[in-house]
Amino acid sequence: MPAIAPEAPLSLRLREGTRAEHQEAESEGFVSRLMAGSLDVAAYADLAAQQLEVYTALEEASAAVRRDARGASLVFDELTRVPAIERDLAHLYGPAWRGEIRILPATRAYAARLRDVGTRLPEYAAHAYTRYLGDLSGGQIIQRMMQRHYGMDAAGLEFYDFSEIPKAKPFKDLYRERLDGLELDAAETATAVAEAQEAFRLNRAVFVELGRAHPGAGAPS
Ligand code: HEM
Repeated sequence: MPAIAPEAPLSLRLREGTRAEHQEAESEGFVSRLMAGSLDVAAYADLAAQQLEVYTALEEASAAVRRDARGASLVFDELTRVPAIERDLAHLYGPAWRGEIRILPATRAYAARLRDVGTRLPEYAAHAYTRYLGDLSGGQIIQRMMQRHYGMDAAGLEFYDFSEIPKAKPFKDLYRERLDGLELDAAETATAVAEAQEAFRLNRAVFVELGRAHPGAGAPS
């Protein structure tokens, strides 16, 4: 494949720049076992707990970025995930969920990265792209698989339910337009692409630790 032109729109550079990382994330052991039905609701609940830590940090960054003249265009209330994750956790762990969940070291590292760099526009764009466009894409497949394999219904899966975004495709197109309209300069664009690759690596590290915690039946102990 020819290298993507440096002047290509940011959304395209992000997609092309993380294609290999996306494939790795999709085929990572924990993700594929969860999707294939060889794990259980507890494994999904553990993933949801990690999401809370990550989205708390990401959405704190959103609040700061919204105050930036350029950044405001990239922050959408309808993407906000923390309240939905909290409802999912209450369903999955019960009312005392805050004392029941545990946050893995890789998740803490991911949140720390978001707190370190997430309020800078190129880095914010990278992290928000990686999570929100992922949730609006593969996330929808994950939701269906959880229902199919683990008998879950809407409760516990609100994270994937963007009730204020009835159709993902036009919203994702709008989000890409907003990314392309940020007018990042060449150095900022390069930073954004590198940070999106880092965001995928951080996600993968969380999956690796979740995989150790939930090896599933038949896996070597
Ligand atoms: C079971 C795992 C996954 C599946 C089945 C999956 C599937 C998909 C699919 C089908 C699309 C294309 C949607 C479209 O073109 O409209 C997509 C896009 C995307 N996914 Fe995933 N995905 C998975 C995991 C992940 C993970 C772990 C991340 C990042 C944390 C992620 C981030 C993204 C992003 C950012 C896009 C948008 C790409 C773009 O158009 O620029 N995905 N995913």
